[in-house]
Amino acid sequence: MLSQETQGRLFPRISEALTLGRTSPIDLNIADPTLCQLSQGVHLIDQQTLEDRASAMNREIWPDGRGGNFYAVKGNPNHYILKTLGDQGFGFDCSSPTEILDALKSGVGFGRMMYTANATPSAHLKFAMDKGAILNLDDIVYLGMLEEVPKVLSFRVNIAGMRKDGGQNKIIGEAGAQKYGVPYEKIISAFRKAKGMGVQDFGLHTMYATNNRSWKVHCTTLQILLEIAKKLKSELGIQLKFVNAGGGIGIDYKHPDDRSIKYGEEDKPFDLRRYGIEVNLLLREFEFNNGWRPDFYLECARYPVAPAGIWVAPIIAVTQKYRRFACMAACDGSDLLRAGMYPTHHHVDVLDSNGNPVHDRPIIKQSIVGPLCENIHAASQRFLPRIIIGDLVVFFHTGCHGIVMGMDYNGWTKSAQVMRMSDGTLKLISRAQTIADIRCLQVPLV
Ligand SMILES: Cc1ncc(COP(=O)(O)O)c(C=O)c1O
Repeated sequence: MLSQETQGRLFPRISEALTLGRTSPIDLNIADPTLCQLSQGVHLIDQQTLEDRASAMNREIWPDGRGGNFYAVKGNPNHYILKTLGDQGFGFDCSSPTEILDALKSGVGFGRMMYTANATPSAHLKFAMDKGAILNLDDIVYLGMLEEVPKVLSFRVNIAGMRKDGGQNKIIGEAGAQKYGVPYEKIISAFRKAKGMGVQDFGLHTMYATNNRSWKVHCTTLQILLEIAKKLKSELGIQLKFVNAGGGIGIDYKHPDDRSIKYGEEDKPFDLRRYGIEVNLLLREFEFNNGWRPDFYLECARYPVAPAGIWVAPIIAVTQKYRRFACMAACDGSDLLRAGMYPTHHHVDVLDSNGNPVHDRPIIKQSIVGPLCENIHAASQRFLPRIIIGDLVVFFHTGCHGIVMGMDYNGWTKSAQVMRMSDGTLKLISRAQTIADIRCLQVPLV
């Protein structure tokens, strides 16, 4: 849940951020309406929260400094976010040449990026390698597509079939149907082939779950990677330099007091301290038994970044159909697609038009929707103070896997992103899209 500190820093700045997010005209009645932005909303991100969450991960998981988090750039590639995390010692997990270029903007050093993609043209592998990323191959066939043998190489292994302890969801997919990773049964032959090609140093990666809040599930992932590490040593003499357990540490999107939802054991916050203790025990035990140990990496995006951001949108209409709908002057399809697509839950607060909390209205069931011709709801059937025109709705935990997943279906444009810097100033870190932006690829009619 968005911490009280984060709320205390962000909420008083909402009105200012909305003004800063108006980077283009909103009134379309100008000579060239394509220069207008459609969204009247704004994303507001707290730099201090990014720093605090990154340093908490470093402190709890890597007290000895042997490894670290490679933030998955896809979660939110904004360069101010990358720079903030890079300054906390994070490396980056990239999945396209675009993301490599994003990560390089942060000033990241050689060997501090992993390149993980499951459908990868050989030119992309070469590009990633040249830019200093460690290749993490999704399949044995990619060995045949390497123009040059890298000194260090990692494989992504699919361990889903090996475990029955839960934690998967439809985002990652069922074991048998997943498109990711070398099947566990083939992993030894993949490493054997790479060793034969002259690779000197190796890593092993997996991404088992996403948004899972159980420290036990995440510890089991490390345990399995360490079992494979032992096997690689005994069968091939390969002593892994590192294991990387991917991302997937979840956050508590749901508020325990929200009557609209069921709140269960699995919705509680992730116990970072316990996880840190347990993974370090596993690594020490491995070292004690084997006389060596690999470094340990993660690629968490959601955990450090989602609770640093909110998305705010004004309400321009309230419609009473079979249900009551509060309609936003901003589009969830562009700014928060995941809410309707999966659908996932984002907690919502209602503020009045001045940005003050609403206390004096009846709590009723209503949905919040954007202007999209898909029957998806940014918030569906929630118990909230009766929303009226002019209110501001605040979606929590939108810093990650939010704006970047958005689309321009229905011709809608994305909101601006504003960062509250640690020194208290507000900074526009990405302007709002205009109509011209989303139609810029069209070739003019002749
Ligand atoms: C390979 C890889 N690593 C890391 C992540 C980050 O996942 P999460 O945001 O759940 O930590 C993702 C997905 O977003 C991914 O595909």
